[in-house]
Amino acid sequence: LMLAARKMAEDASVDVALHLDHGASLEQVKKAIDLGFSSVMLDGSKLPLEENIRTTREAVGLARKAGVSCEGEIGLIPSAKEAIPTCDADEAIRFAKETGVDALAAAIGTAHGFYKEEPTLDLELARRIHSETKIPLVLHGGTGVPERQIIASIGCGVAKVNIATEYQNLFLQEVGGALKRLEGFKPVDLVFAPVEEKLVEFARKTIRMLAGK
Ligand code: 13P
Repeated sequence: LMLAARKMAEDASVDVALHLDHGASLEQVKKAIDLGFSSVMLDGSKLPLEENIRTTREAVGLARKAGVSCEGEIGLIPSAKEAIPTCDADEAIRFAKETGVDALAAAIGTAHGFYKEEPTLDLELARRIHSETKIPLVLHGGTGVPERQIIASIGCGVAKVNIATEYQNLFLQEVGGALKRLEGFKPVDLVFAPVEEKLVEFARKTIRMLAGK
């Protein structure tokens, strides 16, 4: 799968990043680097702070040697079914400085998956962390965050927005629809052609929104 993704990225007419999201261990990070990912993430947010710093610093070292960038996470970004915590600003600043990460997933009020109710991002927290560290922040849990809050977060240091659930949900919905529409023989290319079109449309609209267009 990775080889196919890398080939598509290489053949694309624009720059494409191949990123390991939420890498769970240094082994995973190493493997991703060896496979040719252009950026990796070591998600140590469930670890005690000192251990998160130590492990993430090691991941940054591996990434540096290979010339790829490394993201870390501070403060847990939970599933949207749970209560949504935010990180401690001082801990986030220390984490960024001591690990040397290139991008920082700081918990500023988002969660992964569909929200039970509209989230409220802590933009002041984002602004403070970014102004002290100058490190690009990553907004995880982008699905369901109102557009105005996403745009406002970009003004507070967010430079990457992760949106997965909405995209995956659209994929499943469209595959289901395509399968229902096709009678009898269901060749995979005919199932996927209209699905791909919808996904491209979604990606295009989302990227334009993030670019403020
Ligand atoms: P959502 O699935 O909530 O959009 O979050 C995506 C994400 O943050 C992946 O790391």
